[in-house]
Amino acid sequence: MCGIFAYKGQKTNAAQLVINGLKKLEYRGYDSWGIAFKTDHRVNVYKEVGKIGEFDVSTLQEKVDSPTESSMAMGHSRWATHGGVTKENAHPHYSADKSIAIVHNGIIENYVELRKELKEKGYSFKSETDTEVIAHLVQEYKDLGHIEAVKKALSRLKGRYAVLILCAEDNRLIAARRGSPLIVGKGDNEFFIASDIPAFLQYTRKVMYLDDDQMVIINDDAVFYDLKSNKEIEKRIVEIDWNAESAEKGEFPHFMIKEITEQKETITRAINQDEKQFTHIAQEIKKAYGTYLVGCGTAGKVCLAGSYLFAKIAKRHVNVTFGSEFPSLQDFITDRSLVIAVSQSGETADTLEALEVAKKKGAKVLSIINVEGSSMDRISDYAIHLKAGPEKAVASTKATTAQLAILTLLSYALDNRLEEGKILLVNTASQINDMLNPRYEDHILKLAEKIQDVESMYVIGKGSNYPMALEAAIKLQEVSYIHAEGFAGGELKHGPIALIDKGVPCIAIVANDETKHEIISNAIEVKSRGGYIIGISPENHDVFDYWIKVPEVGEASPIVNIIPIQILAYQLAILRKNNPDMPRNLAKSVTVK
Ligand code: G6P
Repeated sequence: MCGIFAYKGQKTNAAQLVINGLKKLEYRGYDSWGIAFKTDHRVNVYKEVGKIGEFDVSTLQEKVDSPTESSMAMGHSRWATHGGVTKENAHPHYSADKSIAIVHNGIIENYVELRKELKEKGYSFKSETDTEVIAHLVQEYKDLGHIEAVKKALSRLKGRYAVLILCAEDNRLIAARRGSPLIVGKGDNEFFIASDIPAFLQYTRKVMYLDDDQMVIINDDAVFYDLKSNKEIEKRIVEIDWNAESAEKGEFPHFMIKEITEQKETITRAINQDEKQFTHIAQEIKKAYGTYLVGCGTAGKVCLAGSYLFAKIAKRHVNVTFGSEFPSLQDFITDRSLVIAVSQSGETADTLEALEVAKKKGAKVLSIINVEGSSMDRISDYAIHLKAGPEKAVASTKATTAQLAILTLLSYALDNRLEEGKILLVNTASQINDMLNPRYEDHILKLAEKIQDVESMYVIGKGSNYPMALEAAIKLQEVSYIHAEGFAGGELKHGPIALIDKGVPCIAIVANDETKHEIISNAIEVKSRGGYIIGISPENHDVFDYWIKVPEVGEASPIVNIIPIQILAYQLAILRKNNPDMPRNLAKSVTVK
């Protein structure tokens, strides 16, 4: 949610460089964008409504009324929270005297009070955003000197923020965070600040992570401060192992299909990790008096699948909840609990809050996350990284199956059968490698062409594939915008079957296990009401009107079953002329509550 990127260094095309970097963060927000760049004693701001990806950088000069040569600039691509999608509400925001410009990600919870206070002091507001109060506050305190004014303004804010500040009279770039991500990239005599690494991956792989209540001041060097103690702090430089190509589309038309295809390798990468950490975490789960799996959106569905895998493979009960619901269940948490967050980004505010709540209660926290160095990674007692590489399409695909693989392996580790789990998953990865080929995609495309104009679709599953029915529905909703719902097959007859009419597509996820018989009879119930049955299964069956074959992989079936639905959702999006990488109203990483 909202991408931030800034540059300070020797190059004189900072404005253009920031626009190009922001394009790589567009998955974080794409309703409007803007930049600020410093020339002599001026901060220039340029903003537009729409997607930054469509902006031709070479036209910048003709659009602004000042020279664009600059060696310090910052920008923001927005996913609206406070105030509609307008140029006025797009960031950066100026202070009243235009000497200061601010970009911000997060939510300032006390902005209404601050706005009132500032209005009474004579400040007028140009936007409806919560951000604008920060710019005016810095101006209000400017007699303290620029840095102290920023510190004082930040001390007045309640809520979460990642904020960047440019000042006409100061050559330093200032950034601070509380709750929303900010990462500093260190190049040769130049620095980058971004909400996510892909923005500067082409320039450097050396990064420094800003933690909560920390500030960085960038001039010729980057100096970090702890805002609570007001003391300078040392930062370790971390070398990350993503390469620049991994964050690009390459030969693929969209990130979504690139990331679906990468599942040929990502399962293997997820499971080929230090076995000791799986054994260690399995011990922690055994020791814990109550384990919670917590996630949001797709990751929440993975958590639910995890609870089935733990039950079946390791005979172990775990609780599951969405991040946003966790605070309401916190009374059960004690210092003997273990809370496991599942997340691609490691930044989702609701999941992060769950971990914070758990930590306050003294519980141990574990993260299963893709983005190393993310907020969840940094606050967890233990972390397992997915190693899936950057996932940029809003709809999660390769991170989902990597998370499922890790939870499957953990379940086996819990039952002291780690090797057996590994063999199963190595075999699954190799079957996925064979499955993902153009012929397979064509077969699914034929189905997409047949059903592209339907109003509604349903998905049913049972056991560990019930959460996959829920996930399938999310995938279809997110990118095809077709109304889709997932159910436990057995629940259909208790209500939803009333929705089935002639020709309504119903996907039945049929694993070759003890659930097979029942889910097939659920499909028969749907078919006898006129439903069009799409079977996802290792074997064909009379009830299927359309069969999509998946490999037989035993307990790893949720991993292979979700992949054809990811492909179907992608193809439906293309046929319906939707952009699968940037679905309407959604953002990749929701860092607000
Ligand atoms: C957003 C995305 C979803 C994602 C969810 C959780 O809602 O649109 O695709 O599943 O956030 O994200 P996380 O990064 O925590 O996995």
